[in-house]
Amino acid sequence: MNFLDYEDLPGLTLEKADNTPRGYHVPVLVDEVVALLRPAPGMLFLDGTVGGGGHSERLLEHGAEVIGLDQDTDALAEAGRKLARFGDRIRLVESNFRDAARVLEELGERRGLGGALLDVGVSSHQLDEASRGFALMKDGPLDMRMSQQTGSSAADLVNTLPVAELVRIFREFGEEPRAAQVASRIAALRTQHPFETTFDLAAAVSSVIPKTSGRHPATRVFQALRIAVNDELGALRDGLKEIPALLAPGARFGIITFHSLEDRIVKHFFRDRSQEWIDRPEWPEPRRNPDRLFRLLTPHPIDASVDEIRINPRSRSAKLRVVEKLADNQ
Ligand SMILES: C[S@@+](CC[C@H](N)C(=O)[O-])C[C@H]1O[C@@H](n2cnc3c(N)ncnc32)[C@H](O)[C@@H]1O
Repeated sequence: MNFLDYEDLPGLTLEKADNTPRGYHVPVLVDEVVALLRPAPGMLFLDGTVGGGGHSERLLEHGAEVIGLDQDTDALAEAGRKLARFGDRIRLVESNFRDAARVLEELGERRGLGGALLDVGVSSHQLDEASRGFALMKDGPLDMRMSQQTGSSAADLVNTLPVAELVRIFREFGEEPRAAQVASRIAALRTQHPFETTFDLAAAVSSVIPKTSGRHPATRVFQALRIAVNDELGALRDGLKEIPALLAPGARFGIITFHSLEDRIVKHFFRDRSQEWIDRPEWPEPRRNPDRLFRLLTPHPIDASVDEIRINPRSRSAKLRVVEKLADNQ
C-alpha cells in the first residue's frame, strides 16, 4: 500500500523541493485524462470529485459541459471561483458521488453522460489545512470528515468504538501490523481523557509503534481512520454501481486512485464488466459474460510520468484506469 497522501503533505515537500506547486490542489495525470476521456463541445461530463476544479477546468477548456460534485463545501467554493468563467457550462453540486443518479435527476438532466471522472481520496487542501484534522504533522481537531455536514469524526470513532472494531479498521484500511497494540493503547488512554486533537492521537500511536523508517509511525493509523470516517471504499463501490448506468454508449469512465485498496476495487470491477467470456473449472466450455458493459482501455493502469512526479511528488502513487461503455448491441 502506498501512504504518500500523508508523506507528501505540501508543508513537508516544500522543505524538500522548492519547485513543488502550491495552491488548493494540483490535479494529477491531467493530460492523460484529457487524451483518454476526449472532451469536446456538446459532451456532458460528470466530475464526481471536482476538488479545486483542475480536471474540470481542462474538460471545460475543450468545450465540454461539466456537472461537478464534491462532498466538501471548501472544494465547491474553490471550484466555483476557478470555473466561474465557463458560465452555465459548469454546474456544481454538494454531494457524494455515490448519489450521482439522484443529483442528475434533480438537475432534470436526462442526457446520457459523455464521460465521467473520479479522482478519489483527499485533496492537498484537505491534507494541508490543520483545522480539517487529516494531518498528523499539524495539530488540529481530530476530525477528518470530507463532508463537514454529516457523519462521525475521527475523534468520535477513536473515543467510542469497541477495541475490536478499531483493530479491524487499522488492519483492513491501514494494513497496520500493530493494530491490536494501538487499539489497546487508545482504549486505555481514552478512559483518562478523550482524544481531541491530531497530536493526541499521533503521540498515542507513536508510544506503541517505534519509528523505523522516514515515515511517521502513525501514518497507517491516520490513513485507516480517514478511510473509515469517510466510508471511502463504500462510496467507491456505490459509485461503481451507480455511474455506469448514467453513461451513454461510447462514453468513457476514468478513475484515479491513490492507494492499493481503492485501485483493487476499480481494477476488479472494470475487469469483471469488460471481459467477453468467463471460464470456470466446473463448466464444459467458456460462457459469454452477462455483465459485460465496457471495453477496457487500460489493461495496465496509467502512472504519472517522471516529469510530473518531479513537479508534483503526490502524483507518484496515482493510477488511472479507463473503460468505454459498449453500445447495447455489442
Ligand atoms: C483528489 S481530490 C480531487 C481533485 C480534483 N480532481 C482537482 O482537479 O482539483 C478529491 C476530492 O474528492 C472529494 N471526494 C472524495 N470522495 C468523495 C465522494 N465519495 N463524493 C464526493 N466527493 C468526494 C474530496 O472532498 C476532494 O475534494
